Amino acid sequence: MFTQLHPQTQTTALGLGTEGLVFGCDYNPEQWTYDTWVEDVALMREAGVNLVAINIFGWSHIEPSPGQYRFDDLDTIIDLLHSQGIGVNLGTGTASPPPWLTTRYPEALPQAADVTTRWPGGRQAYCPSSPVFRDLALRLVRATAERYGDHPAVRLWHVSNELGCHNALCYCDQSAAAFRRWLENRYGAIESLNAAWGTAFWSQRYSTWSEIQPPRTTLSFTNPMQTIDFHRFSSDEQLAQYRAEAEVVRQASSIPVTTNFMVTAHIENLDYWSWADDMDVIANDHYLDHRLDRPHVELSLAADTTRGLAQGEPWLLMEHSTSAVNWQPRNLAKKPGEMVRNTLTHIARGADGVCFFQWRASVKGSEKFHSALMPHAGTQSRVWDESVRLGALVGRLGELKGSRIVADVALVFSWENRWAADLDAHPTSDFSYLDQVHRLYGALWDLGITVDVVAPGAPLDGYSLVVVPSLYLVRDSEAEVVDSFVAQGGTALVTFFSGIVDETDGVRPGGYPGAFRRMLGVRADEFSPLAEGRVVALSDGSTGSLWSEPLELHGAETVTSYADGPLAGHPAVTTNRHGQGHAWYVSTVLEPASLATLVDSVATSAGVTRSRRVDPAHDTTTDSGTGHDVEIVRRTSGDQDWVFVLNHTDEAIAHDIEGYDLVTETALSGRVELAAGGTHVIRQNRKAS
Ligand code: GAL
Repeated sequence: MFTQLHPQTQTTALGLGTEGLVFGCDYNPEQWTYDTWVEDVALMREAGVNLVAINIFGWSHIEPSPGQYRFDDLDTIIDLLHSQGIGVNLGTGTASPPPWLTTRYPEALPQAADVTTRWPGGRQAYCPSSPVFRDLALRLVRATAERYGDHPAVRLWHVSNELGCHNALCYCDQSAAAFRRWLENRYGAIESLNAAWGTAFWSQRYSTWSEIQPPRTTLSFTNPMQTIDFHRFSSDEQLAQYRAEAEVVRQASSIPVTTNFMVTAHIENLDYWSWADDMDVIANDHYLDHRLDRPHVELSLAADTTRGLAQGEPWLLMEHSTSAVNWQPRNLAKKPGEMVRNTLTHIARGADGVCFFQWRASVKGSEKFHSALMPHAGTQSRVWDESVRLGALVGRLGELKGSRIVADVALVFSWENRWAADLDAHPTSDFSYLDQVHRLYGALWDLGITVDVVAPGAPLDGYSLVVVPSLYLVRDSEAEVVDSFVAQGGTALVTFFSGIVDETDGVRPGGYPGAFRRMLGVRADEFSPLAEGRVVALSDGSTGSLWSEPLELHGAETVTSYADGPLAGHPAVTTNRHGQGHAWYVSTVLEPASLATLVDSVATSAGVTRSRRVDPAHDTTTDSGTGHDVEIVRRTSGDQDWVFVLNHTDEAIAHDIEGYDLVTETALSGRVELAAGGTHVIRQNRKAS
């Protein structure tokens, strides 16, 4: 019988039956003929593909009418892949219901906040709380798991696909009923809900559970706790679908089970901290977002967050793209070398496998202009050539499988806080939690500091520095972890709008920043957000934007103060000795250069190690020779290190390095050049050096 591999008990290397790293892709054979399958499987071998995700959107193909299963095509493709030694990442097939299902049971369709129906014709058009959807999905999963549960080709079960990507929030009557059950379970008594939701306000008191609705479109601001709890509920509903499918799979199969997360810049409806323990392998999908200033830095943050979800264990990149996607307003092709750098960033930050969406570019449907390993142009193409070279490189990197990343810095990140902190009716609509996270993470990235992303309340032992960007909603117990980390000698860097409310979105009285006041040794009696576009001068000659506070010192010292406006003379940035450690507070949005200077000095005083040292003011290098936008990350195992050097700039750089480069397959020593956009993965033996 299958034993669940929780992160604590996982073996050090991602299993999945491959010798080295996973190099894989999604494949949608339903879109092609048998002859193409045969050709594809041969080409997959040429590209070094060793794991193929199939049956992700297979439902209408394998169950063309209710209860009538047609597994012959799936049998054939699985056997074909197996015959070439390629493993299968087998979808449970439930990602998108077939048209017969929602025609027969229209109540299974999801509804938006204004209770209008979202119709079939796209994908994932089902209500996550629909009992009929759940029953029919589990019937399909049972049939599939019983058929392939011990097939030697199957290495991994892929439950559904990106659960909640489109249907995370459903407001229909079935969802309303499920929401009420969830609330009853959480609060027990209606009066506890009334207290938590603050329904004394605006005549919102509930007498019975049946009066409660999801936060459907209202005339005015909606009760914030109704919205926050609806997010919590919705994340749990999606997880419940995963659990139900995984349980059925596990009754028939001992192969690991997972689903693909969406840890990425814009999708924030699921609290993956509460999902991670249910996964046998943590898997993520990540697409570069060319709308961002520095998409590769966001990619690093996503990868570090995924490693956090895996508690430092190796994880799997289940999807990314070889080149353009199809869903951004302007779908930029990746530049030569960009796919390789993206892939290496994921591996550098803990992935023991990288897969692509998808193998062969569709010729029909809304994803026909999405890139693939095999583009429309076929093998006579840049993308194919780069993909084959990448497959060979990933093959060579097999030796680092199971190695780890060691970080001195923890960054506290919370999806729950994203739901709460960005709500309306707050001090300024210009605030975005993710923006603040990105700013702090970006400053650390620029300094070459590797960061572990951790959940609020996660143990901080072993770190030198904890960074807490705008953690508006925080439980007392979670704030206490940061407090005692500092008291015992650690360093914390906290930014504005932190510690304000508890888990019921109730403001902590007595002044801001609430839960962190004592640790930070400061107090503000109000917020003073800035008018649109306004900046405020600071005593070090720089400026702050978005936010300010009439901060008073209660034990802390001023690092920088406000130099103009109504708050002139008040501290803006402070540091406080708390127990054996230090706690820094930033009460405004610093401009990037001064944030970099601050983070640099906080990290230096905390004794944080870094892969390189950059002078933030001049954007030049003082140690190893590399500059801004050069990413250096180290994976380590025993006496062996692998140093990833990824040049995201358009210029060649020179840096000092010793070791064997697995990219160019040459020994490097002393000052070496790395081409514009180029990469090194350098094996070093720590004993020898
Ligand atoms: C993912 C999804 C894939 C494909 C891809 C396109 O969100 O899982 O099925 O749609 O996006 O970028």
